[in-house]
Order: sequence, then structure tokens, then C-alpha cells
Amino acid sequence: MNDLDALLPLLTPEGRALLDEVRGTDPAQELAVATRLRRDHPAALVSAALGQARLRQRAVAKFGAGDAGRMFFTPNGVEQSTRTTVAAYRAERMRALGVTSVADLCCGIGGDAIALARAGIRVLAVDRDPLTAAVARANADALGLAGLIEVREADVTEVDTTGYDAVFVDPARRGGRGRIFDPESYSPPLSWAVEAARRAPRAAALKVAPGIPHEAVPAGAEAEWISDGGDVKEAVLWFGTEPGTVRATLLPGPRTLLSRRLPDPAVRPVGRYLYEPDGAVIRAHLVAEVAEQVGGGLLDATIAYVTADGLVPTPYATAYEITDHLPFNVKRLKALLRERGVGTLTVKKRGSAVEPEELRRKVKPQGPNAATVFLTRVAGAPAMLIGHPARPAQSVSTP
Ligand SMILES: C[S@@+](CC[C@H](N)C(=O)[O-])C[C@H]1O[C@@H](n2cnc3c(N)ncnc32)[C@H](O)[C@@H]1O
Repeated sequence: MNDLDALLPLLTPEGRALLDEVRGTDPAQELAVATRLRRDHPAALVSAALGQARLRQRAVAKFGAGDAGRMFFTPNGVEQSTRTTVAAYRAERMRALGVTSVADLCCGIGGDAIALARAGIRVLAVDRDPLTAAVARANADALGLAGLIEVREADVTEVDTTGYDAVFVDPARRGGRGRIFDPESYSPPLSWAVEAARRAPRAAALKVAPGIPHEAVPAGAEAEWISDGGDVKEAVLWFGTEPGTVRATLLPGPRTLLSRRLPDPAVRPVGRYLYEPDGAVIRAHLVAEVAEQVGGGLLDATIAYVTADGLVPTPYATAYEITDHLPFNVKRLKALLRERGVGTLTVKKRGSAVEPEELRRKVKPQGPNAATVFLTRVAGAPAMLIGHPARPAQSVSTP
């Protein structure tokens, strides 16, 4: 039986009822549940339902329990889909650009198509894989969006997108040997997606890996790096917005920092505070913009840590108050942590080859207190900066 043959019976009333019954099955109970259900249902349907229930559980982190519990997935589809927070943010940008219809070329199981439809946009969702296209169709149905999403099983390079305001392309970036880094090896290749984007009448967005080099951003495109909860999720190349713009967008929010093409910040002595810029800010090369906001400079010309004397609240970096600045030395660190009763040690590093876990094993933190150690370089020399998350000054209430 192929995967499509396993999916279709799950879409029948019997399949849906079975899916409801196996919802939230504890993995340890799976065998017992399967044995019981096989008395009344075909064995293949029972194992398809249990497999789908596992995928739904995996998908909760991306889609939330409400949607994940109603949607259908494939293992690759869960892995490659865009999480709701990011897809909804992008869809809202499309809507704000005046887009009313989008050709979603490489729709996968429909993560982006769903968000676009929920923004009120009509979607042509295309995927060449028969199972994936069937799953995208089932998802549009399950979420009540079938009126806005037309799913087509086809090769995107053969689809006519005339009549759509915008194009969205999320190429496959995984091959048989894992992640693909060369954008020309994406399926379809980035150069094809750029041509499709340039033909779109109103706007286009191409999802690419966050590691894309700035030199690879095509002429006339905007580049946006997006993080969610501090983790960098993707870069997007936009067409139909302000050409040449570079921005970092942080979710939830959204909070967007635009490039002002500032020169690199100067290196300066360690101040009272260290600012750790969000990953999207670093990928977008906007550390200078953050340094300017907080009135700071770099610890080292090659490292994206900002230091400053004052505490300036910014959503684009996490501030730490630094209590000690020492040359890197494990014995000194161990002695200092013991003296301060530090049992909870957070290790952060940039520009150091030391493994955080190995360091924690060596210093054996013990005690009631917490601290953060930054392993980095200060003006070229390996250093340890010890501190804790900065707390804004409390206003003192007078009786
Ligand atoms: C990264 S996934 C898309 C994920 C989707 N945006 C989501 O949020 O669910 C890429 C998809 O592109 C499809 N694909 C790759 N090359 C294609 C082509 N030439 N034509 C149509 N689909 C293609 C793959 O089957 C895969 O499902």
C-alpha cells in the first residue's frame, strides 16, 4: 500500500472517527490501543490513524493544538512547513501590499496557503508530490478554507500564474543527503523562483534559508530575516516592496528593525552591560543599528556582542549586567562560581571553541545562585564575562 492509499481512508467518516478516538494516545499505550481497535477496524486503517496522531502531536509546536488536531501531515510535510506565527506575519504583509490572490508555488502540506487564506487572500496552491497535494487539499477542507484555496498537483515550472497578483515560493531545501545550502540546488532553483517573482504583477516573496549570503540577494529585492521567540526561522526575499531594503523582524510582535547602512561599530572597553543581539538582527547585519540605539560599541571587531555603560531597553537585543571580566581560565571560573554559590550556570559563547557542556562539567556549579558566563574575545583575547540578565531600575515608591 502506498502513502496515498493510507491517507485516503483517513478522510472517510470511519477514518475521521478513528482519528478522534486515537487523539493524544500515549506512545507507551499504542500497542494496546492498536490491538483493541483492530477488533473493529482494518489493521491498515488503525496503523494509519496512529501514525497520523503521532504526526499531529509533532505539529502542535508549529500549528498549535487546535489546528494540528484537525490537520493532516506527512513526516516531511511537518518538517518543512512554515509555522503559523511566521506564515501569518508574511500573509499579513502580502495583504497590506494590496494582494488579493497568490500563486503558492511549492505549497507542501499548506502551512503558508492556510495563513494566506486566513488573511482573506485567494490561493492557488501547487505541489508536484501527489500525497503532499492531497494532504494540502485535506487541510484546506478540514480548516474550512476550501473556498479560498485551490490545490493543484503539478510541477510549478509548468504552471501559468497569469491572473494572480502575487507569487510565493518556498522551494524544497532538503535532498537525499540532508539540507541543501546552494540556492541553485533548491527545487526549484532560486534563479527560477526569482524570474517567477519578477513576473508577478504586484508582489512576490521567496522563502530562503537564513544562512543566505547577502551577496546572493538578487538586485531589486528586499531581504528580511525573521526570528520567532529568539530563534531565526527564515529569510524572505520580497519583490514589489522597497528595493534594496534589509530588515530584521522579530516575532511575536512584529518588531522590525530597518537597515540604515551604518558603518561597523567601534570596538570599546567592556562596559557595565553586554547586549546580545537577536539572531535575525545578526543575520541581517544590523548590529550597528542596535549599538547605536544603546549607545554602545563592540567587544571585538569580529564578534556580534555589544557593550555599553547604560541600560537602554531594546527589543532587538537581550541585556546582561556584567559583574566580572576575566581572561579565559577554567580554574579561575570554578573558584569564582564556588565563592558566589552559583549552581545554575548559563553558558553563552561567540568566538570561542569551548563546548558549554564540557565547561559546565569541569566547573561543577553548586549552590543556590544563578549566573551567565559569556565565552568570547575582548579585543582579540579569549575572555570570560560573568553577569546576569539586566533588570531595569525599579522605581522606589515613597509612602
Ligand atoms: C519547503 S516545502 C513547502 C512548505 C510549505 N510552504 C508549507 O508551509 O507547508 C517544499 C515543497 O515543494 C515541493 N516541490 C519541490 N519542487 C517542486 C516543483 N518543481 N514543482 C512542484 N512542487 C515542488 C515539494 O514536494 C515540497 O512539498
